[in-house]
Amino acid sequence: MEQPQAKPYLRDLRLDREQIAEPDAYPFSIPAAHALDVLVFHPDVTFLVGENGSGKSTLLEAIALAMGFGPEGGTRNMQFKTADTVSTLHDRLRIRQSLRKPRDYFFLRAESFYNVATYADEVGYLGGYEDKSLHNRSHGEAFLAILNHKLRGQGLYLFDEPEAALSPSRQMTALASIHSLVEDGSQFIIATHSPILLAYPRSKIVLLDADGIREVRYEETEHYAITRRFLNDYQRMVEELIRPE
Ligand SMILES: Nc1ncnc2c1ncn2[C@@H]1O[C@H](COP(=O)(O)OP(=O)(O)O)[C@@H](O)[C@H]1O
Ligand SMILES: [Mg+2]
Repeated sequence: MEQPQAKPYLRDLRLDREQIAEPDAYPFSIPAAHALDVLVFHPDVTFLVGENGSGKSTLLEAIALAMGFGPEGGTRNMQFKTADTVSTLHDRLRIRQSLRKPRDYFFLRAESFYNVATYADEVGYLGGYEDKSLHNRSHGEAFLAILNHKLRGQGLYLFDEPEAALSPSRQMTALASIHSLVEDGSQFIIATHSPILLAYPRSKIVLLDADGIREVRYEETEHYAITRRFLNDYQRMVEELIRPE
């Protein structure tokens, strides 16, 4: 008999193509979905990277919905929805889970942090947030408050561009907090552009592009290579960027 594994909670994901009525329409038209065969999750952290529009949010949202999260993010108790923009991809995803279920969940959707904060205020959901409204903090402070005080470990956490709110030093703080939660038996799926977060070693990086999806090494990512080139020679690169034709 197969032994129950502590982690990963999510093992892999496949797309059930048989049932797709309109393969050429969104969301199946995006290359990441089009070419999706199987995506094997890392037991600790799986990063989704790719250009703007490559489908990271669509995929993350579909995973969240397939797992029973509300489409706007938050915990599984926060089943609210403010916009009718949810794709049907989740209906076609086949996610294999291990036998052990996560004890905690959180889905941070980049665009809807405000809604999560409002909802937390309305239902008085602030015990875990040091009793201070998330609206009275900066976006970055609020995110770190969630990371450090709300997430309890042994959880499944989906984040969409969590770095958007964070200064570089706070991104390093976030990396350390993510590591504590990993040590505490948590699994993350994180869509990100942050060369800082991507450096976290207990992870795999999955690149979404016109060819579909594939695993890449940290040093192969544009995030690493371009940031490095830019910082090493920023004056010349900026001059090139702004030079008249
Ligand atoms: N509700 C929608 N209807 C049609 N197309 C959409 C919808 N949401 C996103 N798209 C398109 O799907 C593609 C992937 O978007 P998205 O998942 O947001 O990319 P990313 O998060 O990687 O920037 C983009 O081309 C985007 O314009
Ligand atoms: Mg996105």
